[in-house]
Amino acid sequence: MNESYVYYQGQIVDENQVSISIRSKAFNYGLACFEGIRAYWDEESEQLYAFRLRDHYERLLQSCKALYINLPYTVDDLMEATIQLLRKNNYKTNTYIRPIAYKGADKIGPTLFDDDDRILIYCQPLESYTGKSALKVAVTSWNRIEDNMLPPRVKATAAYLNSGLASLEVLRRGYDEAIFLTKSGHVCEGPGENIFMVRKGKLITPPPYDNILEGITRDTVMLLAKNELGIEVVERSIARTELYASDELFFSGTAMEVTPIVEVDDRVVGNGHPGEVWSKIKELFNNLTVAKNPKYSYFCTPIYEKNEYEYI
Ligand SMILES: Cc1ncc(COP(=O)(O)O)c(C=O)c1O
Repeated sequence: MNESYVYYQGQIVDENQVSISIRSKAFNYGLACFEGIRAYWDEESEQLYAFRLRDHYERLLQSCKALYINLPYTVDDLMEATIQLLRKNNYKTNTYIRPIAYKGADKIGPTLFDDDDRILIYCQPLESYTGKSALKVAVTSWNRIEDNMLPPRVKATAAYLNSGLASLEVLRRGYDEAIFLTKSGHVCEGPGENIFMVRKGKLITPPPYDNILEGITRDTVMLLAKNELGIEVVERSIARTELYASDELFFSGTAMEVTPIVEVDDRVVGNGHPGEVWSKIKELFNNLTVAKNPKYSYFCTPIYEKNEYEYI
């Protein structure tokens, strides 16, 4: 592997200098939480923009609060650490950033009391998550975790066993991605992405009480649909067979971005091609992530220092 720098406990160090104890609670019991953030490279301005950095670190610290992980850092500290880390790695490509906060304590037992809480941030180039421009998906037989069990609002590493089992099941059957139902049978989300349905001119997405992760991309999509396209956005429970009756379906997520679904449970979605609403949102999204829409430039944190005239 090429030389790669990571942020670990307040410092930027060579990745090879970091090791995690085999006894740590993070490794033994999955007592950790994380974020996935993207930074977009804009060739034209030769700038790398981290997308909604503040929102991601606010969500990380909320996850930490739920898991009793106490970090001596503020959102601003973590944003600054990420900027410095990206500069140090000198990436000039679309990049994925992965902060993980975890229980480093090495005592036996999954209590969340023990201290030795730590944070690690690494990053790597990442273009398309699936390598596919449109997806064929299936509902998994695994139900989604729920708030009073393993709260989906908290991006806990342990929760991704639920995601992994779902993905394994449907990928082995030849589909591209899974869709979870809640225990009560409502459409929930994908293993690492939220879902949107277009039906009768409205954009519909499951609400937080149907055990979704409150996605930052989901929020961006809702904002663009309402403010830029004037489409009515509805957060409500969705029945499985409504997916079959939908005009359009698409996923949203940091890794997945905004990706259309053209088949669900072996039924064609709409006319079998990526839909019009998806296409308009995708175009707006692509513009926004590289700070080309001044209205939303506050979502984009430029990484490299430049003279003022260089931004023009
Ligand atoms: C389970 C789950 N749902 C939804 C999302 C999408 O969230 P975001 O748009 O904030 O990346 C993710 C990705 O983090 C996820 O892991």
